[in-house]
Amino acid sequence: MPAIISKAPGKTILFGEHAVVYGFPAIAVPLTAIQTKVSILPRLKNNRSLIRFRNPSWKEDIYFENLKLNNPVRVTVENISKLIESKIPNFEMTVSSSIPISAGLGSSAALAVSISKGFSQFLGIKLSKEEINDLAFKSEIVQHGSPSGIDNSVVTYSRPIYYISGQPMIQIKITKPVHLILADSGKRSLTKDVVKSVREKWENKPNIINQIFEGIGDLVKKAHPAMRNGNIHLIGKLMTQNHSALQRLDVSLPELDHLVNSAILHGASGAKLCGAGKGGYMVAASTLENTESIRDGLLSAGARNIISTKINPT
Ligand code: PMV
Repeated sequence: MPAIISKAPGKTILFGEHAVVYGFPAIAVPLTAIQTKVSILPRLKNNRSLIRFRNPSWKEDIYFENLKLNNPVRVTVENISKLIESKIPNFEMTVSSSIPISAGLGSSAALAVSISKGFSQFLGIKLSKEEINDLAFKSEIVQHGSPSGIDNSVVTYSRPIYYISGQPMIQIKITKPVHLILADSGKRSLTKDVVKSVREKWENKPNIINQIFEGIGDLVKKAHPAMRNGNIHLIGKLMTQNHSALQRLDVSLPELDHLVNSAILHGASGAKLCGAGKGGYMVAASTLENTESIRDGLLSAGARNIISTKINPT
């Protein structure tokens, strides 16, 4: 039997992270330049299922039963088993990913989505996108506590989306390519911790924090038509405003601010941190002709890695 292979892209939130957890809209796009790949085979001669993790910075082989209870591979496989109400045959799964972990680029959502797709196929079940999204959301709850659901949605559907938690997402029709340059601050943070720190601020100073969320919500609403029309200058301007709002939420870092400023200095239309913050990547939007100068500027400013990509018309 040939191995079942499934893949899922990374993602970046272009507008609205954190506020989206509180019911405000947000916009996210898939990043197909980075991905998680899962390959699954039956394990006939051995009575233990094995998981092989193969990432650029980390390799590990571990028996399924030894995975922590909250490990996303374990959570997703067990949820599929519950869904089909049947025992799972022994398997060997290789998980490889080029999505940096804890960097705001959707590594946990991509893992949950690729396993949901691949493992259901391995068991001979055809799940709808909605069911895959649901399974991935359940895994995100175990990882992050109270996720908005934007990560699993953009990764499952692999389309730019306008998203409000608990509502059907809207796919954004892109008419002109938007060039993105993402740069690594070299710092790492856990989404769960940063989301918790924002919640504490919101509980202590609800008026101030709600005002920041409302401001973010307003700029997401302006960004939606700008994305549809490919108005790169407005997209960039709104991204930089979004970064200022995230600074006021205290989820940025000097390293991220420095990269954001350098990108703008070298010709980006705008830039912001992406995802939970307190580390990870930032993202800059640009016209095609400025991408090289922004890339060079970000590297001189200390970026540890660069991902250059574009959102294609849909
Ligand atoms: O850092 P990431 O890629 O996990 O993104 C988190 C986005 C938040 O808005 C901060 C949380 C959420 O659940 O939407």
